Amino acid sequence: MLFDSHAHLDSSKFNQDRDAVIKRAYDSGVKWIMNPGADYESSIDAVKLAETYDFMYAAVGIHPHDAKSLDDMMLGLIKAMARKRKVKAIGEIGLDYHYDFSPRDEQVYWFRKQLQLAKELRMPVIIHDREANNDVMKILKEENSFETGVLMHCFSGSAELARQYVKLGAYISIAGPVTFKNSRKLIEVVETVPMDRLMIETDSPYLTPTPFRGKRNESAHVRYVAEKIAEIKGLTFEEVAEQTAKNAKKYFNIE
Ligand code: NI
Repeated sequence: MLFDSHAHLDSSKFNQDRDAVIKRAYDSGVKWIMNPGADYESSIDAVKLAETYDFMYAAVGIHPHDAKSLDDMMLGLIKAMARKRKVKAIGEIGLDYHYDFSPRDEQVYWFRKQLQLAKELRMPVIIHDREANNDVMKILKEENSFETGVLMHCFSGSAELARQYVKLGAYISIAGPVTFKNSRKLIEVVETVPMDRLMIETDSPYLTPTPFRGKRNESAHVRYVAEKIAEIKGLTFEEVAEQTAKNAKKYFNIE
């Protein structure tokens, strides 16, 4: 029984066969899916999916790419959505200095605002950090976000950075790139992070693991991430599936 801690099944890439993709995930053993929003529309869609499928859960928030579109009114709407029963986190939020689709000062401003919202609602956060390691860590500390829960989604930093996050109480989620040929750095991260702090994810429709690399990703493929972690940690597939699901259920406060 697997928990995919990060999938964008609301993406238009699934418009032709969304129900079949979701059914395929469930039938292949994925018994929980967290679907975070990325902008206002996708946050609405994430909540709709979670209200349609018992085993799906939503997070609401604005991705750093869309920080420039955020304003106080939209933040208020996000806050109202966050109170819905199937919404379990604020996300995905963070900083992206790779693409810089929004100016950095606006990214930082709205990242802080959304972290403050999560604190106010006593909800955990799902963090996107692309080439912004120092600022993300600094802001999370300044906003005391570790008190209410920090999950580093699709972790791509060093083992040393992962160690620092674990020390602060954060969780680390591993995605498909751990299965790639050049994954030495990420393998070190998996070796470093204790099992009770790891989660697994697909980030569907992106980051498709080997052996499906290059194709659209879907939640059923989270098993390849679990298999790779089992290999790295010297555990069975079942042990990895069980522990990562346990971690995610605890983190997102799911029965
Ligand atoms: Ni994502």
